[in-house]
Amino acid sequence: MSDRIRILIVDDIPETREHLAKLLGFESDMEVVGAAESGPEALELAPRLTPDVVLMDINMPGMDGIATSERLASLLPSASVIMMSVQGEADYLRRSMLAGAREFLVKPFSADELTTSIRKVHEREREKQARTADHVEAGVRAPLAADRPARAGSVVTIFSPKGGVGRTTLAVNLAVAAAQLGRQVALVDGSLQFGDIAVMLNLDPRHRSLADLVPEIASGVPESLETALVRHDSGVDVLLAPPTPETAELITPAYMRGVLERLRQDHDLVVVDTPPILNDMTLTLLDVADRILAMLTLEITNIRNLRLFLDVARQLGYDDRLDLVLNRADSSLGIRVADVERSIGRKVDHSIVSDGRSVVYALNRGIPFVISSPEAQVSQDLVRLARDLSGVEPASREAQTAAHRTAQRRSLFAWR
Ligand SMILES: Nc1ncnc2c1ncn2[C@@H]1O[C@H](COP(=O)(O)OP(=O)(O)O)[C@@H](O)[C@H]1O
Ligand SMILES: [Mg+2]
Repeated sequence: MSDRIRILIVDDIPETREHLAKLLGFESDMEVVGAAESGPEALELAPRLTPDVVLMDINMPGMDGIATSERLASLLPSASVIMMSVQGEADYLRRSMLAGAREFLVKPFSADELTTSIRKVHEREREKQARTADHVEAGVRAPLAADRPARAGSVVTIFSPKGGVGRTTLAVNLAVAAAQLGRQVALVDGSLQFGDIAVMLNLDPRHRSLADLVPEIASGVPESLETALVRHDSGVDVLLAPPTPETAELITPAYMRGVLERLRQDHDLVVVDTPPILNDMTLTLLDVADRILAMLTLEITNIRNLRLFLDVARQLGYDDRLDLVLNRADSSLGIRVADVERSIGRKVDHSIVSDGRSVVYALNRGIPFVISSPEAQVSQDLVRLARDLSGVEPASREAQTAAHRTAQRRSLFAWR
């Protein structure tokens, strides 16, 4: 049997069907196995033709593309649906994804967009099946969150009630630093609408992201998680936020909880970035965490908001797993660390120095500063934090003492 991608075209307009078939005729790795002019006809043909990919028109008289996709999902789950529409409305996209469509193309699309989408969904489905086959071979059932072993790694969620304090910077560099210490690390962009991790790591969320998991949200089990992860050069497995804000809305807190629980099964450390808002989603990301890093900088608005958050955290019982991280600790303009500690009624647990040069240079190149400027103090602060959080001992007693001395010296110079 040929290993070409088998494609079924479903569209009520004959010209469109012909046009698509002609376009795909040029592709040596694809084969149009059939065409249907309505939903019912597609459902009748699909089990017989066993297409890998179904190109589905969303607007058809009678049973539309969404209803057809829903039924097809139970009839032939291995077929990946690519929805085609003339409108790019968010609501269409939303309903299509929930009906199980893997991709969404807005007409008119180029031949290139079409074939890229087909190859992408096909490859993802193949990876998914290969994984399931591995499990069957190994004599175990396909992974289900419920029957996995007890947790292996810890989840660290970074939060601040205010933007711009360095959460994403910390998340990215902490993850990479822990990977450099030999840990298996996952990094999750929980800032679903306007996530910055893709930019900071120079990765493309259109290739792989949480958006790829939307079709399975209804099932509640993050079965295809691996296919949505991107492996960064540092070894960190990254789960990017969806490329468009409207897709982010489709992701439910319950599903994200499942994602984090699942990630901690095979990672030592799961680092989660968040947006500066307290909503259901953020509360879930905090709830799952073994450790919460509450971040602030030496600014009065920041300190005030953090105090409010700490009150909430206390009420929610997060207190004993919360660490205070002071970023740009030496950039005080009139506020001293002691003032902060007095104002919020607790000690700062970790400090990170300010280093605009290393940080912005790294940001603009899409390379974490723990990689591009490992010798910088800011990187060493991050490595220390990564050690603390992932339970790695410093290389030697001397190194520890030296680091401690540097930290002490810094605190003497910077804050008093
Ligand atoms: N330790 C630091 N020293 C210098 N600049 C920093 C430091 N941490 C963060 N920044 C800068 O602060 C800005 C906000 O950081 P970011 O991580 O995007 O914050 P958040 O995710 O909390 O909104 C960025 O321009 C970043 O480069
Ligand atoms: Mg951010």
